Amino acid sequence: MRVTHLSLTDFRNYAQAEVPFGPGPNLIVGRNGQGKTNLVEALGFLSTLSSHRVSQTGAMVRSGAESAIIRARLEYNGRDILAEVQINRSGLNRAQINRSVIKTRELPRYFSSVLFAPEDLALVRGDPSGRRRFLDQLLVLRSPRLSGVLADYDRVLKQRNTLLKSARASGLKTTQLGTLDIWDERLVALGSEIIDARADLVAELMPPLQKAYKSVAGADHGPNLVASLSILGADEEAGETASPAAASPSASSGSATADTFRTALAGLRRKELDRGMTLAGPHRDDLVFELNNLPAKGYASHGESWSFALALKLASAELLRRDSSSGDPVLILDDVFAELDQSRRRRLAEAVTGYEQVLITAAVFEDVPAVLAAHAIHIHAGAVVAAPEAESGTVRG
Ligand SMILES: Nc1ncnc2c1ncn2[C@@H]1O[C@H](COP(=O)(O)OP(=O)(O)O)[C@@H](O)[C@H]1O
Ligand SMILES: [Mg+2]
Repeated sequence: MRVTHLSLTDFRNYAQAEVPFGPGPNLIVGRNGQGKTNLVEALGFLSTLSSHRVSQTGAMVRSGAESAIIRARLEYNGRDILAEVQINRSGLNRAQINRSVIKTRELPRYFSSVLFAPEDLALVRGDPSGRRRFLDQLLVLRSPRLSGVLADYDRVLKQRNTLLKSARASGLKTTQLGTLDIWDERLVALGSEIIDARADLVAELMPPLQKAYKSVAGADHGPNLVASLSILGADEEAGETASPAAASPSASSGSATADTFRTALAGLRRKELDRGMTLAGPHRDDLVFELNNLPAKGYASHGESWSFALALKLASAELLRRDSSSGDPVLILDDVFAELDQSRRRRLAEAVTGYEQVLITAAVFEDVPAVLAAHAIHIHAGAVVAAPEAESGTVRG
């Protein structure tokens, strides 16, 4: 699929902007702080309802304005779709498809994109929660049904935690024990589905990840993804994410996962009642990134960590393109090329040129290989400008 046109109103530093995009590579170029990342952040939000930079959506509304509007014309399967979201400083966000109101959470079904930005380094170096979010977002993009399962799991988890807390405060009554058993079954059913879905996804990600890492890093450091499961005794808080017990259960083992989960809860019951919280389940799992059999977190160099994060995003794009009926996801590379040397730039360009549409941002025009730079959009102070003062005199080498 591709974006043919983007309109922004009061989004970040854009009062009003109209941005046409072409098929294939589009280079968004301009000095730092002009609004390149803001532009692609808007598209990322349309596709995931979240920003790669902030958790509070209010930050995306132009200062002084009450609401921002992101409107994109999309094209896939010969269809032309107008997708729109209004981000309100106060009150709920609103979404429309072809000018009809839809539930906001339905919006991601219409637009699939994969965005890589320097912030994604946190996938490798940051907390497990970022890695869980990465997996779950990809799960939902591939099978929208799972967003319901994830939401249900969160709800059951909250209710179970409330019960554990009240049991801790007032001592566990027999009636509460019965209720806890019911919540346990719900938690196990939903949680096992999530654990197994993540395991299947990780298995599918591996081959494209290895391929993408090699092309980005220019070397094979044996990138690997190892599930670290709390139901097998890996404890996020104790930092035992790479414990030997933390092996992934074999795929397609739905009932085996549920059995393991049930056993773990039984073993943890006293501790859970003491702490007033649920100590095992997909909300406490991690995914360990390895290079050459060592955890990337704490061992990998800056360049290796960076290649890993980028390779993961490229691998996600590859999976989405493989099983999508609406064509390739739009690939968005924010500020990627400045970080790479010439040969890596060339290899990355080769890896992405096959995509239906690739949006690339760069502060320096020359950092981006010529094959990706034919269609350039120049940004200055929150506006698309026709005549770039800085780049116009530049001769490409
Ligand atoms: N809500 C907002 N209202 C107005 N300006 C904003 C808002 N959020 C960010 N900005 C401005 O946007 C600019 C940064 O844009 P960005 O897209 O990150 O730049 P770059 O071109 O370097 O990627 C900064 O000048 C910042 O002050
Ligand atoms: Mg930027």
